[in-house]
Amino acid sequence: RSHFADEKRLEGKKVLVTAGGTVERIDPVRYLTNDSSGKMGFAVAEEARRMGAEVTLVVAKVSTAVPAGMNIVRVESTMDMMDAVLARLPETDIVIKAAAPADYRPTERSEQKIKKKDEALTLQLVKNPDILQAVGERKTSGQFVVGFAAETQNLEAFAMDKLKRKNCDLLVANDVTAEGAGFGTDTNAVRIYDKDGLVEAPPLMSKAQVAQRLLTIVAERLTRKEG
Ligand code: CTP
Ligand code: CA
Repeated sequence: RSHFADEKRLEGKKVLVTAGGTVERIDPVRYLTNDSSGKMGFAVAEEARRMGAEVTLVVAKVSTAVPAGMNIVRVESTMDMMDAVLARLPETDIVIKAAAPADYRPTERSEQKIKKKDEALTLQLVKNPDILQAVGERKTSGQFVVGFAAETQNLEAFAMDKLKRKNCDLLVANDVTAEGAGFGTDTNAVRIYDKDGLVEAPPLMSKAQVAQRLLTIVAERLTRKEG
């Protein structure tokens, strides 16, 4: 196979990537979010573009510059991200859910800045919908879905449970407590699973290299799917 064929293995494919941590407003000046930096999702989006795909990047709160050369859709909350993803799902070939959507949102969002009082304040939260699970339920046979999992314990068991529950083709699990892995770092140590178990456990490498390994596997499997 020529070098060009290797480089452009996702030519003609529409890839949708989500990145960053979603933001759930409490009032006009306060919100809940998480430590996601967006770096892993950005690395995947950039690699997909390099491999010739048409990339849409759905971006929540990130701590690094958004890559160029792709369609950028900015969102705030998990519900916004869900709408953005599901609206584009029918025309998408590959979905890669590297974002960290907030699992809960405040039950009520105050229109005005909440004033402090002497008593303790209780914040009530409701569960957000699971975007990846919604994508998994709607997935057609030609579509390929990659989920991520951030874990601090029982990596394999939790990862396999998420993969099956959310109907993913591949799941990229990372132990966010490991040295050089997880939130904010430029490197990552991941384990990639499919429904039969471990596919690959690459050593600690840059997020760009992780993205390259991941998309190489995706491209191979998509070709196999298409026969
Ligand atoms: N995810 C999602 N929508 C949510 C929560 C998570 O699409 N509301 C996706 C993430 O983008 C990721 C995968 O589900 O691809 C796993 O996210 P993670 O937070 O590790 O798993 P949860 O299912 O939320 O479980 P928990 O946080 O309890 O471990
Ligand atoms: Ca979660």
